Amino acid sequence: MEIISVINYKGGVGKTTVTSNLAAELAYRGKNVLVLDMDAQASLTFSFITPDFWDAYIKENKTIKSWFDCISQGNQTMPLSDLRIRPEVVNNYLSKHGKGCLDIISSHLGLINVDLELATLLGGASPQQTQKKHLKVHGKLREELLALGEQMNYDIVLIDCPPNFNIVTKNALIASDKILIPAKPDYLSTLGIDYLQKSVNSLVSDYNWYASKDDEYDEVNPEIMGVVFTMIQITSRKPIAAQQQYISQTRRLKVPVFDVHFRENKTIFADAPRNGMPVVLNYYSNVTHSDIVDEISDFVDEFESNLE
Ligand SMILES: Nc1ncnc2c1ncn2[C@@H]1O[C@H](COP(=O)(O)OP(=O)(O)O)[C@@H](O)[C@H]1O
Ligand SMILES: [Mg+2]
Repeated sequence: MEIISVINYKGGVGKTTVTSNLAAELAYRGKNVLVLDMDAQASLTFSFITPDFWDAYIKENKTIKSWFDCISQGNQTMPLSDLRIRPEVVNNYLSKHGKGCLDIISSHLGLINVDLELATLLGGASPQQTQKKHLKVHGKLREELLALGEQMNYDIVLIDCPPNFNIVTKNALIASDKILIPAKPDYLSTLGIDYLQKSVNSLVSDYNWYASKDDEYDEVNPEIMGVVFTMIQITSRKPIAAQQQYISQTRRLKVPVFDVHFRENKTIFADAPRNGMPVVLNYYSNVTHSDIVDEISDFVDEFESNLE
């Protein structure tokens, strides 16, 4: 099983859109996929389940917030399998036309407060306690995702991260084997990529320093898989010059960049979440849609070949 975090410091760059489409296409091809929504905005959650369903059955005690609450309150965490659900619309489609399945662990708007509570937990301890707490507060998710993966036979876990570097995000990164960075090719979105790389390195080296002194925790090594550009404007079959400039610049940062990108199409991408079906599994009604579906499928080819 591979655990992959999808992250960028910036919001609105297409993280959730990339996550939902990648997950759906992988499931269609036969992978058993779990998506974990760690962003308090819960966009990924609402791309697969309706707000009414979430309100009635998920909100109270079936989101990742409940799990983090246990940690910050010093209680035993519930098994992640208690939080996992199999969203109906997409799995109805997958069971007829695909080979795999897609499960989700949902988010909660209140997840934003969890960071503060976890940070409080880390303060005011002796050096010995600090080491244990640091490992528990940052490393517990990996341990439990590995257990869930084994139990449910998942091939891939995709974690949709919030646009920050707080403790919840750090849990996702520590849990991950690989990191995928969606970015818009513009000044502000690409600015953060170099910085993100440095932040990940320092997070990992701190964590591994503690882990090396504790038998219970293994060292980790999340690897940056690459940047996938989103919202590309195409002219004469190529990204417009203003965007190409940032794509070339990012390639010079020594971070891998995917050859395939997601092109911009507001109409097609904006509507899909409301129907509970990512774009890549929707019926195409016109040529543009089928071009976009082909492109996402090419991206998933590239993604899978990078995993090997
Ligand atoms: N390729 C695209 N073309 C046009 N609009 C897009 C594209 N990808 C995402 N969007 C839209 O941009 C907004 C932000 O995308 P989202 O995936 O939620 O970003 P993030 O998770 O980084 O905040 C959403 O309204 C989404 O529908
Ligand atoms: Mg998002």
